[in-house]
Amino acid sequence: MSEEKKDCASCGQAPKWQRDFPIEWEGDHYVTRRETVKFLTLGSLLLAAANWMTAFAGRVLHRGSSSVQHIGPASALETSASLLFRYPTDQDPCIAVRTPEGKLVAYSQVCTHLSCAVVYSQSENSLLCPCHKGAFEVDRGSPIAGPPTRALPRVKIEQRGDQLFATELEA
Ligand code: FES
Repeated sequence: MSEEKKDCASCGQAPKWQRDFPIEWEGDHYVTRRETVKFLTLGSLLLAAANWMTAFAGRVLHRGSSSVQHIGPASALETSASLLFRYPTDQDPCIAVRTPEGKLVAYSQVCTHLSCAVVYSQSENSLLCPCHKGAFEVDRGSPIAGPPTRALPRVKIEQRGDQLFATELEA
């Protein structure tokens, strides 16, 4: 039997390796407040960065979308009326409005606050978001009431004969 094993067995001393490299086992799993705060801060920063990247990627992917898509006959859009369509993909709801002055405008239907669908209000001549009572001015899509701070992305519409086409989604 080796000398160090004899030490352990006979006198209750720790083995030589443990005396040479002492470890405080009780404190080994102890996490300090500073480490917890550091972990939470880094985790929050990573989540914020991932969130920002997702939002940025979504904007970049849709910016300047310029495919041409038929959205319906112009006769279907009377004065002070709206028409729903999807552009540039089937996952992107949009709304076209013929204003009381006869001007044709179109926007993404996704509210810039928390993404509820906006609807056209004939009586108020504005685009309303029912979720938090947000409102957008119909001529430019600018926010005029409620929590939204950014304008609705505009969709360019072209009329060719009696047919309407979406041609570009502006960021
Ligand atoms: S989601 Fe439109 S106002 Fe909040």
